[in-house]
Amino acid sequence: MSTIQPHGGTLINRYNPNLDLTPYTKTIALDATSLSDLELIATGAFSPLDGFLTEADYDHVVQHMRLANGIVWSLPITLPVTDSSHYNVGDQVRLTYQEETYGVITIADIFQPDQTLEAAQVYKTTDLDHPGVAKLLARGGTYIGGPIELVKRMTHEQFSEFYFDPRETREIFAGNGWKTIVGFQTRNPVHRAHEYIQKVALETVDALLLNPLVGETKADDIPANIRMESYQTLLQHFYPQDRVKLAVFPAAMRYAGPREAIFHAIVRKNYGCTHFIVGRDHAGVGNYYGTYDAQHIFDQFTEAEIGISLLFFEHSFYCTACDNMATPKTCPHNSENHIILSGTKVREMLANGVVPPPEFSRKEVVDILIRGLREQKVVS
Ligand code: ADX
Repeated sequence: MSTIQPHGGTLINRYNPNLDLTPYTKTIALDATSLSDLELIATGAFSPLDGFLTEADYDHVVQHMRLANGIVWSLPITLPVTDSSHYNVGDQVRLTYQEETYGVITIADIFQPDQTLEAAQVYKTTDLDHPGVAKLLARGGTYIGGPIELVKRMTHEQFSEFYFDPRETREIFAGNGWKTIVGFQTRNPVHRAHEYIQKVALETVDALLLNPLVGETKADDIPANIRMESYQTLLQHFYPQDRVKLAVFPAAMRYAGPREAIFHAIVRKNYGCTHFIVGRDHAGVGNYYGTYDAQHIFDQFTEAEIGISLLFFEHSFYCTACDNMATPKTCPHNSENHIILSGTKVREMLANGVVPPPEFSRKEVVDILIRGLREQKVVS
């Protein structure tokens, strides 16, 4: 059975465990974000990228949300360093993390980006209170571009059974006979609003890929290990086992709102999804983006350029008058009937052991979150 075309037409594979490392004498030490980018490039999740962006591609992505060849790409996947004086174009360099070599890069470009412009274009703000901007400016000020190879896979002690490469998710989808699969990105526990939009989508497609991001997130987001436990319990009790796949998305969160929504959609296409959900304030943080900016941004591209069908949802909530989940599109009642809690408020409630209403989040989920956060507090 054929699956959806990867972005750019070819699923990239840059994994080469047998590479002879003898010529690679220089090293670049990666941070956690670059390490996960390295692996995601190599496994094809970031197809058509075959390395960290060169200057021409970087400039195009920042200015036009496209690579230099015109293919849509919205986030600069860069390799920042603080000191580039040891490196020259053409060098073959090891990429290390905690002294271990995970990959190599053949340096094609060494350049000084305008990071203020990058922040303004990608994050729509230069405010250092924005976690994506703060991280951008805290990483190095020189970028190294060029093709990579991955020589060693990361080992995952936690929830290792939920890591799948795009090749594997594609095989799983085909093996199950699923022709249409909706991808769902989340960095949060699955609350009733998430469940509602997932299941509304699932009414019209064959399967759901619940694909929580488990790479670096900001400190006050709920840790991935606690979320993973809650997803498994929720799926076990409330989802059809034969139509849902839980797999982690091991990328770092950027909080780039609209631009990250494009990136999230394209990457899910690479994993084999045919549809992707974008709800309210997708990948947003604070008040930096309008509620539906992450939907409107797709107007700038043709459907063929994105290549995955987008399912847009309005702000979903429980309505006490409807006695049901709804959105402004389907509910005629006023906001006094709507049970809406901000992410910040819910995290605060959970951290204090306060149970949010069952119309907001299922008890089975809340119990795990409260216990998880409590245990974590005891340990740290
Ligand atoms: S994200 O940063 O990973 O996008 P989150 O986990 O909160 O954050 O959201 C996952 C997906 O659900 C996103 O597409 C988001 O727009 C959508 N979403 C979250 N809450 C709601 C809601 N109440 N109504 C509609 N869509 C929502």
